[in-house]
Amino acid sequence: MSDEPQTLEALEAELTADISNAGDEAALEAVRVKALGQKGLITLRLRSLGQMDPDTRKIQGPLINGLRDRLSSALSAAKSVLATRALAARLGRERIDITLSPRPDDFGTIHPVSQVSDEIIEIFSALGFVLAEGPDIEEDRYNFTMLNFPPGHPAREMHDTFFLDGTTEQGERMLLRTHTSPVQVRTLLANKPPVRVIIPGRTYRCDSDQTHTPMFHQVEGLVIDRNIHMGHLKGTLEAFARAFFEIDNVKMRMRPSHFPFTEPSVEIDIGCKRSGDEIRIGEGDDWLEILGCGMVHPNVIRNCGLDPDEWQGFAFGCGIDRLAMLKYGAPDLRAFFDSDVRWLRHYGFHGLDQPSLGGGLSR
Ligand code: DAH
Repeated sequence: MSDEPQTLEALEAELTADISNAGDEAALEAVRVKALGQKGLITLRLRSLGQMDPDTRKIQGPLINGLRDRLSSALSAAKSVLATRALAARLGRERIDITLSPRPDDFGTIHPVSQVSDEIIEIFSALGFVLAEGPDIEEDRYNFTMLNFPPGHPAREMHDTFFLDGTTEQGERMLLRTHTSPVQVRTLLANKPPVRVIIPGRTYRCDSDQTHTPMFHQVEGLVIDRNIHMGHLKGTLEAFARAFFEIDNVKMRMRPSHFPFTEPSVEIDIGCKRSGDEIRIGEGDDWLEILGCGMVHPNVIRNCGLDPDEWQGFAFGCGIDRLAMLKYGAPDLRAFFDSDVRWLRHYGFHGLDQPSLGGGLSR
C-alpha cells in the first residue's frame, strides 16, 4: 500500500484514531482486521521480524510487540464501551413507559350482573358475611333431597331441571343446579356453625321468555347460629334493601309462602310505584316481589349433621338479574346474555370502578 505509514508512531496514531472513530462494533472489528488480521498492518510487521538481522530485531521486536499489545487492549476497551452503549440504546428503545396514564376506554365495561353481584357482596361483607361458592353441575341430593325435597315431591317438578346423562358412582343423578340453595348444604357440611355466608352464582332452568333465560343468576344468604329468629332475617333484609337501592325509606312486607327448605317461609315485597314500563322503588303504593326466604327447616339442619334444637338460622334467595333490571332499568332479560357490545356500553359500568359502601355502590 502506497500510503502505508512508515513509522510505528504514525501507524499507532492512525490505528488509535481509527479505534476512536469506530461508531459500532462492526466498524471496530474492521479496525481489528486492518491491524491484527492475517494481512493486518501490525501482523505484517511482526512477520517481517524474521527477515531482520538480529540487532535490528532486538530493537524492533519489543517495539512492534508493544504496539500490538497496546492496540489489542485499546480494541478490547473500545469494544466493551461500544457493547455497553449498544445495550443502553436497546434498553432505551425497548422501554415500556409504565408511567403513562391508563386509557379508560381500553378497559371494557363491567356487565350489570357482575356489578350487582359485587354490590351485594360489598353490602353483606359489611354485615359480617363471607363469600361461598359451589359447583354449577350438582348432585340431586344437594340440589333437592338434603334441602328437604323428598324423592317424588311435586316441588321438584316446578324447577324445570336440566338433568345430565348417567349417575355418580353412588348412583346420584347429576343436574345443572336449579338454585344456589345447594350451597347452603355444602357450606354446613364443610363448616362448623356459626356461619354467615353470601353465595352468588349461576343457576339453570329449562325456561325462556322476556323475563326468563335458561341460565340466570341467584344469590343465596345463610345464617346459622344460636337463638336466631325472624327478627334477624327482617332486619338483615331491610339493611340490604336500603343499601342496595340507595334510598333510606324502602317499604318492605313479608307474605307467607312455601319452600321445602324453610319453615316458616315468606316472600319479601318492596314498595314501588309503576307507571307504564317504569318501576320506581321507594315511592307509591304498589308492591314488587324481590326474594324468597325463611327460617332454615329443622330437617335441613339435621341433614347436615347438626342439632336443630341447638342451631337455627335463616336463609334467603334472590334473582340477581332481576335486581339488575330493576335497579338499572334494563327491560329485556334476554339482552343480558346476547354479548352485544353496544348493549354493554350502554348498560355496563366503568372497568375501574369498584362498588363500595363508602365511595358509593353505583355512580
Ligand atoms: N331457592 C329458591 C328458588 O330458587 C329461593 C329461596 C327461597 C332461597 C327461600 C332461600 C329461601 O334460601 O330461604 O326459588
